[in-house]
Amino acid sequence: MNNLSIPNNYWDTALYEEKHAFVWQYGEDLLKLLNPKPGEYILDLGCGTGQLTEKIAIAGAEVRGIDYAPTMIETARQNYPHLRFDVADARKFQVDQPLDAVFSNAVLHWVKEADSAIASIHQALKPGGRFVAEFGGKGNVQAIAKALHSALQAIGIPTQVVNPWYFPSIGEYATQLEQQGFDVIYTTLFPRPTLLAGGEVGMANWIQMFASAFLAGLSAQQQMQVIHAVEEYLKPTMYQKDTWTADYQRIRIIAIKV
Ligand code: BEZ
Repeated sequence: MNNLSIPNNYWDTALYEEKHAFVWQYGEDLLKLLNPKPGEYILDLGCGTGQLTEKIAIAGAEVRGIDYAPTMIETARQNYPHLRFDVADARKFQVDQPLDAVFSNAVLHWVKEADSAIASIHQALKPGGRFVAEFGGKGNVQAIAKALHSALQAIGIPTQVVNPWYFPSIGEYATQLEQQGFDVIYTTLFPRPTLLAGGEVGMANWIQMFASAFLAGLSAQQQMQVIHAVEEYLKPTMYQKDTWTADYQRIRIIAIKV
């Protein structure tokens, strides 16, 4: 497969739901930090196929999910037809009325223009409203990225690949939030080794779903070569008992609009 023609907001939702349920399963912890209350107006920013949006609704909040990927929104609407989901861009979304909270799980590492996303989140909140987020932080998937670069080099592909991700440190992200009118009341950066589904093909599935930017422009054969080389590099440290573990490093933030 040559994925050059696939737009950067295309997601295969069947593969996402079937093989990557850990994304929202791990996200349930973040819901405890959000602590949604009945009647609150909450936006789920980057809602994917809607699983956490529904949990927020079950808590009694008035929730709306937005996502940049039309395929995610289509599936979210099919999964939860009673909830409102819209395609929107984290860098420039609008809301109908000021919100009590903006919630975001495992999304903001895709948004390199963090200042624009923070400005949109700020304008969406009421004064005193909260922004509760988790995403990849400094050092996230470092071993996988290094292996991808080495694998591309090994087959003679120049590795000036555009890095598709933004993994900030606490200091970097908190500073941007403060500069745009937030008080950061909680933040942490922690390793969270993440078990991948699919047994032996778990790493290949992960790369195809989340690291496809590294494979753009390669023939199907080259893609398989790269994936195989990455598996060989990482197997000794990241594959045990028929399961791959990804070296996730999470940043969590609670910030209040001043
Ligand atoms: C993450 O959730 O940390 C992540 C997911 C896909 C690509 C990179 C990072």
